[in-house]
Amino acid sequence: MNFIHFPVIDSTNSEALRRLAACTEKEQIRAMNKSVITAKSQTAGRGRMGRIFYSPEETGIYFTAIYAPDKIIENPAVLTAAAAVAVCRGIENFYKTDAKIKWVNDVYVNQRKVSGILTEGHLNKNGKIDAAVVGIGINITTKDFPEEIRGRAGSILSAPQCHSANACVSFPRCGETDKELSAGQKSGFQELVENICLNLFNFYENESEYKTALKEYKDRSFIIGHTVQVIPVIGRNETAYSAKVTGIDDEARLLVQTEDGENRALSSGEISIKL
Ligand code: BTN
Repeated sequence: MNFIHFPVIDSTNSEALRRLAACTEKEQIRAMNKSVITAKSQTAGRGRMGRIFYSPEETGIYFTAIYAPDKIIENPAVLTAAAAVAVCRGIENFYKTDAKIKWVNDVYVNQRKVSGILTEGHLNKNGKIDAAVVGIGINITTKDFPEEIRGRAGSILSAPQCHSANACVSFPRCGETDKELSAGQKSGFQELVENICLNLFNFYENESEYKTALKEYKDRSFIIGHTVQVIPVIGRNETAYSAKVTGIDDEARLLVQTEDGENRALSSGEISIKL
C-alpha cells in the first residue's frame, strides 16, 4: 500500500479521481492500485446522492483507497459492501464496540451513523470501470453536526460504552497530537486506516475472503426483517415507497417486498428506517 497524506484537501475522492484522470496509459492506472489518499480535514467532502460529508479537522478520519485491478470492475456495489465490513472490523478492533451496517454504505455504532462510504468509478476509453475509488469517512469525536444530519449522525467516542477506561486506545489516543509522536512512530489514525485498508484489499483480491465478507455484511445488517422507506436514486422517475426487507443477495442487492407483495432486488438507492 502507498499512503499519500494531505493535511487539508477538498475531497480525498476527488483527489484520487484527479490522479486517475491524469494517467494516459493503462499501466499508470494499474500502478495506482492500493494507493490510499488520507486527509486531516476536507473542505468539500462528498457523500452519496450529492450530499456533503462533514469533515472537520482532527475529529474524524477521511481517506480514499484506490482499487485498480487487472480486469474490468463489473459490480462496484460489492466493493462498497466489502469496505463496510472492513470498517466495522477496524472500529471493533480499535474501539471495542459493536458496529452494524445499514445497506448499502452506512456503519452504525449505538444507533448512530458514524461512518459512510462513497465508491466512484474511473472509466476507460470504452466506458468500462477500470478503477474504483472507495472513500471512507469515520466520525471519531465529531460534534456539532450540521442541522440536516444531526438526527442520525454520531461519533464513535460519544457512544457511552466507549468512555470506559481503555476505549481511547487509538486515534485520537487520549491527548494525542502529531507533535507527540517520535520519528517512525505511527499515529492511531494511521494504524486504523492501515488496518481497514488491509482487510479491504484482502477482500477485493481473494474470492473466498470476499465471500466471507459478504456473509459478514449480511450478519451485520440490522435492517433485515424491518419495514423501511425506499428512496429511489435521484433522477429516476420513482417516488419513495414502503417495503419489508427480506434479505441481501450475493451481489449485495437489497431484497425487499413491497406492500403489494412484489419482490424487488435493489442495487442502488437509499433506505430510511426509524430506530
Ligand atoms: C455517505 O455517507 O454518503 C458517504 C460518505 C463518504 C465520505 C468519504 S470521506 C473520504 C472520501 N472523500 C469524500 O469526499 N467522500 C469520502
